[in-house]
Amino acid sequence: MKYYLINLLVLLVCSITAFGQSKGHTDFNKDWKFYKGEVKDGQSPTLDDNKWRTVQIPHDWAIEGPFSVEYNARCGGLPFHGEGWYRKSFTLTNTQKGKNIGIEFEGVMKNSEVWINGHYLGKRPFGYLGFEYDLTPYIKQEGENIVAVKAKPEDLSSRWYPGAGIYRKVWLNVHEDIRIAHWGTFVKANDVSSKVANIDIKLEIQNYTETDKVVSIAQSIINEEGETVKVLNQKAIAEGSTISINEQSFNLIRPQLWTLENPHLYQLVTELKDVDGNILDHYITKFGVRDIKFTPNDGFFLNGKRTEMKGVCLHHDLGPLGTAVNKRATVRQLEIMKEMGVNAIRTSHNPPSREQLEACDVMGILVLDEAFDEWGIQKIENGYHTVYEEWHESDLRDMIRRDRNHPSIIMWSIGNEIREQKVKDGWKVAQHLGQICHEEDPSRPNTAGFNQYENSIKNKLAHHVDIVGFNYKAAKYKEIKENYPEWIVYGSETESITSSRGVYHAPFLEKYEKNTDHQVTGYDIIGPIWSYPPDMEFKFLEENPSILGEFMWTGFDYLGEPTPYGGRDNSTNGYWNDDWPNKSSFFGPVDLCGFKKDRFYLYQSQWTNAPMVHLLPHWNWKGFEGQEIPVFAYTNAEEVELFLNGKSLGKKVKGVDKGIVPVKFMYYEGPTDFPSPYRLRWDVPYEKGELKAVAYSNGQVVGEEIIKTTSKAKTIELTADRKVISSEDGEDLVFVTARALDAEGNFCATFNGQIQFSVNGDGTFEATGNGDPSSLVLPNSKKLKFFNGMALVIARANQGDGGTITISASGKGLKKAVIAVETKADVKNFN
Ligand code: GAL
Repeated sequence: MKYYLINLLVLLVCSITAFGQSKGHTDFNKDWKFYKGEVKDGQSPTLDDNKWRTVQIPHDWAIEGPFSVEYNARCGGLPFHGEGWYRKSFTLTNTQKGKNIGIEFEGVMKNSEVWINGHYLGKRPFGYLGFEYDLTPYIKQEGENIVAVKAKPEDLSSRWYPGAGIYRKVWLNVHEDIRIAHWGTFVKANDVSSKVANIDIKLEIQNYTETDKVVSIAQSIINEEGETVKVLNQKAIAEGSTISINEQSFNLIRPQLWTLENPHLYQLVTELKDVDGNILDHYITKFGVRDIKFTPNDGFFLNGKRTEMKGVCLHHDLGPLGTAVNKRATVRQLEIMKEMGVNAIRTSHNPPSREQLEACDVMGILVLDEAFDEWGIQKIENGYHTVYEEWHESDLRDMIRRDRNHPSIIMWSIGNEIREQKVKDGWKVAQHLGQICHEEDPSRPNTAGFNQYENSIKNKLAHHVDIVGFNYKAAKYKEIKENYPEWIVYGSETESITSSRGVYHAPFLEKYEKNTDHQVTGYDIIGPIWSYPPDMEFKFLEENPSILGEFMWTGFDYLGEPTPYGGRDNSTNGYWNDDWPNKSSFFGPVDLCGFKKDRFYLYQSQWTNAPMVHLLPHWNWKGFEGQEIPVFAYTNAEEVELFLNGKSLGKKVKGVDKGIVPVKFMYYEGPTDFPSPYRLRWDVPYEKGELKAVAYSNGQVVGEEIIKTTSKAKTIELTADRKVISSEDGEDLVFVTARALDAEGNFCATFNGQIQFSVNGDGTFEATGNGDPSSLVLPNSKKLKFFNGMALVIARANQGDGGTITISASGKGLKKAVIAVETKADVKNFN
């Protein structure tokens, strides 16, 4: 493939995509029975499960805790391994009787096995992909049916918190004898411009009967305005007992393109009818029309526009919610990322939730969809290598078949830091997996994230992917491009700096890693030996404009991998409990709750244009009077003037007055005191009072930030992320942030007192958090501590006509606070 690229110089990819839904797609998530532990004959229809708990799917049994040193801190210190059973009884409705019925799981973590009425349906070791089983032969038309699911994640099977159980949604797919097959549409274009897009539609029509049948296929394309822009009608033969492929091609005139600013989505509505005109299936496929082009010299182009990837890697947990997928929590995460300036995510290191991909489609975010963190060679004892041989092909094909229609996806990643890099024949595996990607989807390039610089090149893995991703090799971009000018290269993983929100350790700017308080200083300078501050990636990308961009590690903190505490080497097998209670990561510019750390603003200053300025650290330094404190301003303005208690400490010019930042990392040979053009720095002798930054561009004031020395915390300020949420489906969430304020209303940035929440009215309590990586308070506790002045409560809207959720917060010595959030049935829960 690389040779193909050399010849062509550019890899031109035009594509159009879709996520599909059949008319018989029926919610099957309510009221499952759950038991954590081993159950003899748990699949038996006669088993009495009355005493089992009732749970709603998506469900993650491990986030219920406890956090314990007994479990692996690398995986969040939570009990995700072991056995868990789910059962659901159901009877067919009149309209379902006599139909074909499939059960679709969007993801079960992991080693799932499924039965219906005691009949074994199958197993799926990988927890990150969905699957469908046909229930029809075993289903009872009258009386009770029992679905039983066993999940059995092993200890030492993940390098991060994987969650446990049926953590993604479940559906019954009810259909006639002829249907559009599961994941059975693929829409793509060979050439896209704003004038015309040539579009291919591939349909897979599944006929469950033994006889060939004539079907008519009526298709229409509908734009976001609801206008039908194309109609296609034809007849086809659905061959008996098999899947028939039906392909069509047409020109869509003046398509509305899917862009980051206006991610237009079309719907392809496909109706299958029999010869008498009866509707067999009605299938909606959403898609977007866009042109993607990767070049070795000029980077990546979306619809002809050079687009630098300002990307983040994201693990799949949703902080206090664990891994139980929730649409609103997913969208909120992406909203916060967009605010930071993100335009791309890497779903590290596994296939993401449907919700995340749909949100990226709607919000205009590019996606690098990743399959594996291990191939056949072990990283950790019970990792993917144990099933690689048997399952990799179907897992990879399924990922692409499931996801190929999302316009947001631009690359398929076959792996992250896979061990085959060090093996002479490693390239053969890369080639094999890359080939599968091309077979399933010729419209997108494949890639991988390599961390072993010399090995991945020597053993030719880098030669056998279309786009070469390097993890933490910013200092090598120049050399790579000199040696391999034809390669299309990007930073698949960058930075890995660690910090705790609102923590600053003295002596300041010293590069010691651990502290007795189990936190990491917030100056954005600490990280493992392969890591480097964001400044270095910015610099090397500016010096090497042919690089596509970066995916920093990680947009959000996640459960598990509490580097530098507990463990450091990302490859170590075994437990990471040396520094217990540290159990969640420090890598994010945003913490587990979605609260912004200072680093958020460093990225915002580089990735966004709306004027901003941010000051750090806090200004509560009792006992440090007269001592110099490094003060940084992160801004995208031209200049910043700093004032202490009204007195100017001088103006500094961005890019000219460079803030010194300590750096030292693998492959970097420059000075360890790096003068960063991305940070402005003043060393300010401490005196209590007010520190103010005023930002200027073109001589005009464009921004201001004030931080003040605070007195005792007196009140709680509650802010909801939205004032009105949806009661349509019982799934919408409101995220309420509590901040501690002093009597003058100033934010108490070092307050760590108790807070207790209550949720009343037309919603229920969901979870709390404070972003402290060393806290062992479970998210299901309403009582917790502020962490540096902040805490979070999440509430869920009841399904129904709507009403009001009342959320209150109290704490010793603090005035109680109350906030009301409206819920409405006619407000949509996202798209
Ligand atoms: C990378 C690895 C990530 C994470 C990160 C921490 O090498 O791919 O999964 O472990 O290190 O810095």
